[in-house]
Amino acid sequence: MKVLLIIFFFIVIQCLLIISNAIPNLIMPESSDIIFEERYNDILDFLVIGDWGFQGKGVGRKHGNQKNVAFVMKKWAERYNSKFIINVGDSFYKSENDDHQGVDSIYDDKWKTAWLDVYKGRLAEIPWYSVAGNHDWYNNVYAEIEYSLNVNSRFFMPSLFYVRTNIISGKKPTKVAWIHIDTNLFFYTYDMIPNDQMKNNFNILGWNNDIEVENKLRWIEQQLIEQQDSDWILVAGHHPLIGACVSFNYMPRLVELFERYGVSAYFAGHAHVLEYQTPKPDSPVAYFTSGAASRTSDGCSGKDWGMPEGTFGFLHATIIENEMTFSFVNATTTKDKIVYQGKLTARSTWRPK
Ligand SMILES: *[C@@H]1O[C@H](CO)[C@@H](O)[C@H](O)[C@H]1NC(C)=O
Repeated sequence: MKVLLIIFFFIVIQCLLIISNAIPNLIMPESSDIIFEERYNDILDFLVIGDWGFQGKGVGRKHGNQKNVAFVMKKWAERYNSKFIINVGDSFYKSENDDHQGVDSIYDDKWKTAWLDVYKGRLAEIPWYSVAGNHDWYNNVYAEIEYSLNVNSRFFMPSLFYVRTNIISGKKPTKVAWIHIDTNLFFYTYDMIPNDQMKNNFNILGWNNDIEVENKLRWIEQQLIEQQDSDWILVAGHHPLIGACVSFNYMPRLVELFERYGVSAYFAGHAHVLEYQTPKPDSPVAYFTSGAASRTSDGCSGKDWGMPEGTFGFLHATIIENEMTFSFVNATTTKDKIVYQGKLTARSTWRPK
């Protein structure tokens, strides 16, 4: 009898071990408790790219679509001494028939072939502040967090949601708050999720219900409240909020929050275009889409400005005190050209503290 009991417990323990091994390593939090603070002198220069990890060859292009954009971005980052990249997700795609979506693990070759080998010079020295796109969710999205935490923090994604502040010294010290969010939870309802692995990932995090949506919206609202002393509040996420693209599921709730708390600008990708929606009297938020760094598609209908399908590129921006200047750059060929330029002013100029 005793022997049977011991064997029984041995089997139970083995089963528990097998189950615990099957659950991906969940050391990574969904949102970071700490705020990452950075300090800069005088000028804050940065580039915004999205949807960049598609490695299929471009027709008639010397380097392929992704590499052409990378070539031009390197030139811009060096010319303007850019401080970081805002990566709005879809970092890794299935590029060929025998390829896979996203990354398999922290050991996936794509860390080298689709990122390190492609973005050179200054682009390989500065941090990439990243969020996950749907294609990252189609595989091991946790591996991207793990890579950031344990392998190379220059691919910066310590959690799915996080906040950074940039304190810029100078004649008038300026505070820029960045809120990096995962929009996949708001863009898809659970039943609409287009991929089994993504559904599985949602299940693991318990993201299969409206309560989680409300929890995350509350988290975003809390961060917006805490950052009200900022001259600039900038939000980065994967899915766009321009024109008709805003209408998906819980996405209008984000617009509501951004308007209520005076967000300066929202940066996204997903639509494989460069697009812009100007601030309006009833909606002072500027909306940017920069999702054309390796593939192109149609954009959101109802935008104020956008490039046609077939044009590749990225967004460049510079903040000096109360002013942000920005340029959308056509990097379809290595003969790059600015295709749209504009200016924004700090919240303090239109939203009294
Ligand atoms: C971008 O550049 C390419 C190549 O020079 C050109 O064919 C295309 O028309 C340009 N796009 C825009 C919107 O100007």
